[in-house]
Amino acid sequence: MAVVAIGKVSVAPSFAADVDWNRWAIGCQGCHRPDASGSTGGAPDMKDFVSRFVTVPGGREYLVRVPGVATAAFSDKDLAALLTFVLRRFDPQHLPADFEPYTAEEIAAGRKHPLRTEAAEVRQRLLSQMSATSH
Ligand code: HEC
Repeated sequence: MAVVAIGKVSVAPSFAADVDWNRWAIGCQGCHRPDASGSTGGAPDMKDFVSRFVTVPGGREYLVRVPGVATAAFSDKDLAALLTFVLRRFDPQHLPADFEPYTAEEIAAGRKHPLRTEAAEVRQRLLSQMSATSH
């Protein structure tokens, strides 16, 4: 499908999405499952939820520093595109209208400080901020 798209400017956006989809399949879905629903005791369910992180202070940065993202074997630029894709693909409804795509610089800065054992605790704090702000 991607091969057919080459050279056709009008289908370029879907070609870009295919590239991100392939990265997701290679680097992420083993833990997160293809539809991002995760598994009990494994990766959390991100479907229809993950974009809520960018609505609370520190949440946008958390998504970069979470170990599976910060240590992924992708360049800063590719990871910026992939993380933006994840939010748009799996939880478009919670993405704020003024959301700016992740940049390579932002990924580079965040992944220098990957979360380790404290990831779960930081996550929990962000979740409680979400419930405090939702009605
Ligand atoms: C080895 C398993 C594993 C892999 C591979 C992995 N993740 Fe994760 N991911 C997790 C776990 C577990 C969490 C929950 C936070 C934590 O404890 O690390 C998580 C959390 C996240 C979160 C934050 C969502 C939340 O609810 O906390 C995002 C976004 C994410 N991963 C994206 C990705 C992307 C994108 C990739 C591929 C580049 C990826 N992950 C690869 C296991 C994984």
